[in-house]
Amino acid sequence: MSDAQVAIVTGGAQGLGAAICIELLKQGYKVCVADIQEYKGKYFVNQQQEEFGSDNVIFSACDVTKESDYISAFELTLKTFHRVDVLINNAGIVLEQDPQTLLSVNLLGPMIGCQTAIKFMGKSRGGKGGMVINMSSVLGFLPYSAAPAYVASKHGLIGLTRSYGLPYHLEKEGIIFTALCPSFTDTDILKSAGTNLLVQGVDHSKRDGVMSPEAVAKGILQLLDDRINGSTLLVSKNLGTRYIGFQEEFKNVPLE
Ligand SMILES: NC(=O)c1ccc[n+]([C@@H]2O[C@H](COP(=O)([O-])OP(=O)(O)OC[C@H]3O[C@@H](n4cnc5c(N)ncnc54)[C@H](O)[C@@H]3O)[C@@H](O)[C@H]2O)c1
Repeated sequence: MSDAQVAIVTGGAQGLGAAICIELLKQGYKVCVADIQEYKGKYFVNQQQEEFGSDNVIFSACDVTKESDYISAFELTLKTFHRVDVLINNAGIVLEQDPQTLLSVNLLGPMIGCQTAIKFMGKSRGGKGGMVINMSSVLGFLPYSAAPAYVASKHGLIGLTRSYGLPYHLEKEGIIFTALCPSFTDTDILKSAGTNLLVQGVDHSKRDGVMSPEAVAKGILQLLDDRINGSTLLVSKNLGTRYIGFQEEFKNVPLE
C-alpha cells in the first residue's frame, strides 16, 4: 500500500478547489475531487490523470448538502486509495437572493462534512485521525453590506472550525480542524457576484487586491504543515498570510 497522503476536496472541479487539488497532487497527495458538476469534474480529473497519473486522482459526484454523497465520496476514496487523511470543505456559492440554498451549501454542507469526517477518520470510530480544512473567507471576520447571507455563512464556518478545533474533539477523534480565509480571488464566484449580491452591477473581479487561485492554494499547504488545531488563516494580497485569533477580551470568558 502507498504511503502517500490522501485528500478529498469538495468543489474541486474549478476555481479555488481545482487549484488546491493541483497543489496537493504536486506535493504527492492522492486526491478525490468531489463536486456537484459531474461533467466538469470528470473532465478536470481526466486532465490531472494525464499530468499526475491515473492512480492518483479520482472523481466522486457530490452535492455537499447530502450526507449520502459525502459518505459515497469517503467510501470511493477508501476503496481506491485505502485511506483518507484530509477533508477540504471548499464548495461554496454566492446567492443572496436564496439564503436557504446559500446556507445549505456554504454552512450546512461543511457541517455534514465535519460529521462525516469524524465517522470515517475519528479515532473513536476506529479511524486514524487527520485534518479537516473549512473554506471560510475574509468575510468570515468582516461584515459586507452586499452579502449578509454569505457573510453569515462564512462567519458560521469560523465558529464551526473553532468549536470542533477545541481540545475535547482532538483528544477524542485525533482530527485537527482549521479554516482558510482568503480575500477576493479570481474565480467564477467573483465574476458572478455582480448579479448574485444585494448590491448589483459591480465587477468584483476588477477590484484591487484580487488574488490568483494558485496563490491562495498555498495557504492550504501552510495549514497542512503548521497543524494548529482551531486555527483560522487569512490569505490577503495586501496583508499576506497570517493567523487571526480571538479578540483578547474574550479569552477569559468561562464557557466550560
Ligand atoms: N473567489 C473568492 O473571492 C473567494 C474568497 C474567499 C472564499 N471563497 C470560497 O472559496 C470556495 C470556492 O469558491 P471559488 O471561488 O473557487 O468559486 P467557484 O464558483 O469557481 O467554485 C465553486 C465550486 O463549488 C462547486 N459547488 C457548488 N455547489 C456545490 C454543491 N452543492 N456540492 C458540491 N460542490 C458544489 C461548484 O461546482 C464549483 O466547482 C467557496 O467556498 C467560496 O466561498 C472564495
